[in-house]
Order: sequence, then C-alpha cells, then structure tokens
Amino acid sequence: MGLFGPPALISVDDSRARAKRRVPKFAFDFIDGGAGAENGLRRNSSAFQNELLQPFALENTDREIVTKRRFLDQDWQLPFGVAPMGLAGLAWAGMDQHLAAAAEKFGAPYVASTPSTAALEDLKTIAPNSGWFQLYVGRSEEIVQDLILRAETAGYDTLVVTADVPRPGKRRRDLRNKFGLPLKIGPRMIADVLTHPQWALNLLKTGVPGFANLAQYADPGASTASLAELMASQSSGRLDWDLLQKIRQRWRKKLILKGISAAENVAKAMEIGVDAVIVSNHGGRQLDGAPATLHALKEIRSQIGDAYPLAVDGGVRSGEDILKACNAGADFVFLGRPFLYAVAAQGPQGADNVFAMLKDELVNAMVQTGRPIL
Ligand SMILES: Cc1cc2nc3c(=O)[nH]c(=O)nc-3n(C[C@H](O)[C@H](O)[C@H](O)COP(=O)(O)O)c2cc1C
Repeated sequence: MGLFGPPALISVDDSRARAKRRVPKFAFDFIDGGAGAENGLRRNSSAFQNELLQPFALENTDREIVTKRRFLDQDWQLPFGVAPMGLAGLAWAGMDQHLAAAAEKFGAPYVASTPSTAALEDLKTIAPNSGWFQLYVGRSEEIVQDLILRAETAGYDTLVVTADVPRPGKRRRDLRNKFGLPLKIGPRMIADVLTHPQWALNLLKTGVPGFANLAQYADPGASTASLAELMASQSSGRLDWDLLQKIRQRWRKKLILKGISAAENVAKAMEIGVDAVIVSNHGGRQLDGAPATLHALKEIRSQIGDAYPLAVDGGVRSGEDILKACNAGADFVFLGRPFLYAVAAQGPQGADNVFAMLKDELVNAMVQTGRPIL
C-alpha cells in the first residue's frame, strides 16, 4: 500500500460491500449471517466500536514498530490469524487454499476446519508452518479418532477443539433462503447463481465445493440425504469434559479449546491441561444472547490472571480492533468473515491484501498510541 497509489483494499466494510455484490445471496448470507435476530453478531463488533484507544503523544514514532508475537512456543510475524471456517469455498472457489497460502506468507496462523472445502492434508502442504487443524467432536467416535490421526500424520502440531456447537445454531437467513443440507436447488437459487456469473464461472473451474475432509466417511453411493445427515452429525455432538480429557491424553501436541466465554470453563480447561483457550461465540452464529467476546475476554482475564494464554475472535474488523483486543488481555487475535469478504471481493489477491491492510492498520494504531512493541 503506497502513500501515493490507491490502497489495494481500504476497509473490511468496503470488501464486504463488494463481496455482497459478487456472491449469490444464499452464499453471502451463509457467511455473513448469525443466529436469531443477529444481536449477538452486532454485539461483538459494537463492543470493539465502543472500546477506546488512548493516544500517547511525542513517543518518538520513528522507532521500528514490532508486530511480532510469540504464542504457544512459536514466533509469529503478526498477532492475528485466520479462524477456522467450514464451507468457505462456497463464498469463493479456492478460498481455503488462498487464505492458507497468504497466512503462510505473512507468518500468521491459519486454522483448517473440519468441514472445510479443501482436504486437511492439502492445506498443511500449503501452510506447513502456519497450519493448525480445528476438530469438531461429532457423533462418530471412529471418525473423530481418524481425523485426529490424519491431522497427526499430515504434520499438524496444534489441534483446536471447538466447544460452542452442541447443536447447529438457528440462522434465520439460511432458513429464509432455504439454504441447508441436503442442498435443495429451487428456481430462486438458480436465478441467484445466474445473476452472479463470475462466481459461477469460478466455481465451474474448480468444481462444486464439498466437505473434503468428511466425504471419505460416507458410503459410496450414499444418497445426498444420508450424506447431509453425516455432515450434520459430525459438525456438532457429544463433546463433554470427560471426552476432552481423553482427547488431551490422545493428542500430546498443542491443544486449544475454542468457543468459551465463561471464566469457570477456562479454569476447567487449564485443569485438564489444555494449552490455550480462544474466547469466542462462533461469530454470533450459535447463541444470539451470548456476551460480546471482547467483554468476555476482559472478564476472564481479570479472573484468571495474566499467565494463561488466551486468544479472542468475533467482531474484529480493523487493525485498531486487534490492538484493542491485545489491550484487553488477548495474547492472540483471530478473524473470520473479514478474510472471506476480501477474497470474495478481489479473488486470490484479496487474501494477501487483507493481511497487508490489517497489518498496516495495526502499525498505524500502534504509532498513534505511542506503542512500538505489541
Ligand atoms: C462461514 C463461517 C463458517 C465457520 N465455520 C466454523 C467451523 O467450521 N469451525 C469453527 O470452529 N468455527 C467456525 N466458524 C466461526 C469462526 O471460526 C470464528 O469463530 C468467527 O467467524 C469469528 O467471528 P468474525 O467472523 O466476526 O471474525 C465459522 C464462521 C463463519 C463465518
């Protein structure tokens, strides 16, 4: 982003608006929407909007600005990364691969999701240093065990277990658009796709996105209805503290628990030997009344002290927000939708551009607040 040329990407809001024009409504609503009346979705970002940053003047801002962060024994170039997102290839074909490559290039973590539209093995090849794997503990013990084995074999050293999907959230936009599994393609959806030709052509090149990690567990020749059932039962289910303890015993490398907003849950995770917690409410996609993650983070930090590693996601929309999260006690920050919007808005280049933009905004916020080191 040069001082005199036009910036490659101006803001998350700008790329969201562009993505909305380029992506069929049913797919845009799937990535953009939240649970219930979407108060929780708005609450996450309003919490960041209402949080202030105190400027400190005349702090010799010519000094080098250091955005590096060490998190779970690894040095990262940036204090933020890509949250796990299932079905991301629906927003733009090749989404997972573009984001994994950009995260690797920028030295930031990329979390491959259980219901991702690219195989976990392929994503680890694209992001050998940056790739983590997110696990949904679904109903089939066998599949869960196999996914853990596959993650291990592929060379992942960090497993992120998601805790906030005991069952799928109620998302009104998806219900209104009749978007669900198995996908029922009606005339409205066909019209929706035909009026977004660039998205459709791109999809034709790469093939219709599927659940690359889970497809192999379906019986060959299974009906789409039974395939859909398998996906649903493997994306939510029967995780409890006993099972988490068993996963802790099985997975000896780094283990993170994602989707926690109560301090007593963090205390329990610490007790079990979980290495870090991501304070998250799934981007407001599960429980509309869940507290804003920025507020939950502050509360948890005040109760558990400074030592335990905490990350946060939900509603982070700028470099200033990333700094606010760090000020509130986050050791690391994740973003979800902003990455999807950028690639849907600009294609593969959007992945690099959103990293560059957020980094530039973060550096700017650090300079404005007289803080050379994160
Ligand atoms: C389209 C979409 C799919 C998601 N899929 C998953 C998933 O498979 N696993 C998971 O743990 N979280 C999933 N999430 C939640 C994100 O990891 C993250 O918690 C959330 O998006 C953060 O909020 P933000 O989008 O406001 O940044 C998904 C979010 C979106 C938007």
